[in-house]
Amino acid sequence: MENPVWLAPLAGITVPPVRLFFRSLGAGLVHTEMVSCAGLLHNSSKTFSMLRVLDGERPVVLQLFSGEKRTLARGAEKALSCYAFDAIGINMACPMPKVTKKGAGSSLLERPQEAGEMVRALVGLGVPVWVKIRKIPISSPLDTVSFTGMLLDAGASHICIHGRYPFQKYGGTSDREVVLDAAKRFPGRIAASGDVFSPEDAKTMLDGGCSAVFVARGAFKDPFLIPSVLHACGFSVDPRFLTLSSGSRIEMMISLGERIFEDEGEKAAIVLLKRFLSGIFRGLPGASRFRQAVSRSANWVEMITTLEDWKASSERGEQCDRR
Ligand SMILES: Cc1cc2nc3c(=O)[nH]c(=O)nc-3n(C[C@H](O)[C@H](O)[C@H](O)COP(=O)(O)O)c2cc1C
Repeated sequence: MENPVWLAPLAGITVPPVRLFFRSLGAGLVHTEMVSCAGLLHNSSKTFSMLRVLDGERPVVLQLFSGEKRTLARGAEKALSCYAFDAIGINMACPMPKVTKKGAGSSLLERPQEAGEMVRALVGLGVPVWVKIRKIPISSPLDTVSFTGMLLDAGASHICIHGRYPFQKYGGTSDREVVLDAAKRFPGRIAASGDVFSPEDAKTMLDGGCSAVFVARGAFKDPFLIPSVLHACGFSVDPRFLTLSSGSRIEMMISLGERIFEDEGEKAAIVLLKRFLSGIFRGLPGASRFRQAVSRSANWVEMITTLEDWKASSERGEQCDRR
């Protein structure tokens, strides 16, 4: 990996054009959204389409979920026969009932024995096995550091810890101390997830001994966060990305939207662009008018017209400022 600032797995969001966009901004590695092993075994075309990878994305980690080790292993084999992913990640973090009621995601944190067996089921496949967990619930037989150690003993190469209990979902604050404790105990093996919203947040976790940070909702708040984090943490970054004008930012968002449209269709382009644009509006002149126009856009033509309009207006504003 070129650097330790990585794009987190984000269901419904980290589709190939989005991953490529963040790789081009300098992310050291990207994750797929979580993919259902049951879906792969049922030959679901929708699930298989989630295995697509574009040129220029690698390194890419495929994140899988399953509540059962044989399904996990067979799903992983099928996926690897479609594409040589750089690592397989097991999702033991998702707290959503549609995942946990199948025994997958964060419900595995309550079943350390099975969680370890899931790692062992993938170790022979010839790619590194990674696991993403959350802060371990009090009701589990192991605490976070012991659970992490157990996964590493089972053969996992790398563990990402999101410092929230599953019941917290995305609320409250992420517990940095629990992640840093594990990072000190297992140097080079622990990545941090949770509340990475600024270069300072990332620096705290990297300086504290984490081997990487996962940027998740921070990328919605500011799609250009990754270059600033890289710069603040002393990693190489294309200097163009540190001084982007608002016009260039909007231009890059338009290109991202067009790529999503080509790859995933109009609906995905509109939904995803709205998500990333909310972070771009902050602090820009005329933002509220354009924010409303973007949120009203019902099709791509309306969206692109608004964005082109906004780009022209912000370029006029910047020219006036320069004069
Ligand atoms: C919309 C959304 C989708 C997510 N999808 C996944 C997923 O597919 N797999 C996963 O392990 N975590 C997923 N997460 C969790 C994030 O990867 C990350 O761990 C979490 O948001 C905490 O980081 P943050 O506080 O910096 O956002 C998702 C989070 C959000 C907000």
